[in-house]
Amino acid sequence: MRLYAVLFLVAISTMLAESVSINTLVFPSETNSSYVEMVPQKPLNLRAFTLCMRVATELTGRREIVLFAYRTQRADELNVWRELDGRLSFYLVDEPVFFRVPDIGALQTHLCVTWDSSSGAAALFMDGRKSLTKIFKKGHTVQPRGKVIIGQDLDSYLGPFDANQSFVGEIGDINLWDSVLSDRMIQDMFSGKRVPRGNVFDWETTQLKINGEVVVVNTQQ
Ligand SMILES: *[C@@H]1O[C@H](CO)[C@@H](O)[C@H](O)[C@H]1NC(C)=O
Ligand SMILES: *[C@@H]1O[C@H](CO)[C@@H](O)[C@H](O)[C@H]1NC(C)=O
Repeated sequence: MRLYAVLFLVAISTMLAESVSINTLVFPSETNSSYVEMVPQKPLNLRAFTLCMRVATELTGRREIVLFAYRTQRADELNVWRELDGRLSFYLVDEPVFFRVPDIGALQTHLCVTWDSSSGAAALFMDGRKSLTKIFKKGHTVQPRGKVIIGQDLDSYLGPFDANQSFVGEIGDINLWDSVLSDRMIQDMFSGKRVPRGNVFDWETTQLKINGEVVVVNTQQ
């Protein structure tokens, strides 16, 4: 009887400790050609969003780094950047909003940006901590029918790309929701708790099209 109880407890604790395996993208060097296209689950027709990722890079403040690029034939609809001066920013149709936050570096940072068209409220979360709110592009809608790529700026739609803006380092866990998540959910995500998956991009199931020198590494969380 006692043995069964022990075995039962062992089984339960093994289940609880089970780690989640997740892919991450490593861009080992600076190129004008390596990128990953992410195929969305539904069109990016957005009046609000939360975009999250985990990122680490050793690139210093000498240049800009593109972290996320969504472009239609017409415009750069939604881009996320590390600026030359270290600020983080996102752009909706070429208009930026900047956040003066601590530098991202070689240790992984959990990053989210949120935006809501009805109020224009824009904010950034770094490792679960929320920035000030800025008012940005009230009434705007992000347009569908474009491409999302990681690793290069999509300015020229399909290249050649500017190596001087490319991403070098590790990036993954990229999820996009068509709504603003609660502060609590973003904190939970940062601390590794399971939260409802992204409904535009769910990193666990999103199809990735790898181009060039990008290594997909499977890690245990
Ligand atoms: C892209 O990079 C390769 C290798 O570094 C170089 O030979 C080529 O000229 C570059 N192309 C453009 C358009 O910059
Ligand atoms: C890279 O970009 C930075 C900032 O825009 C610029 O100062 C630098 O000259 C560029 N380097 C090259 C090699 O194009």
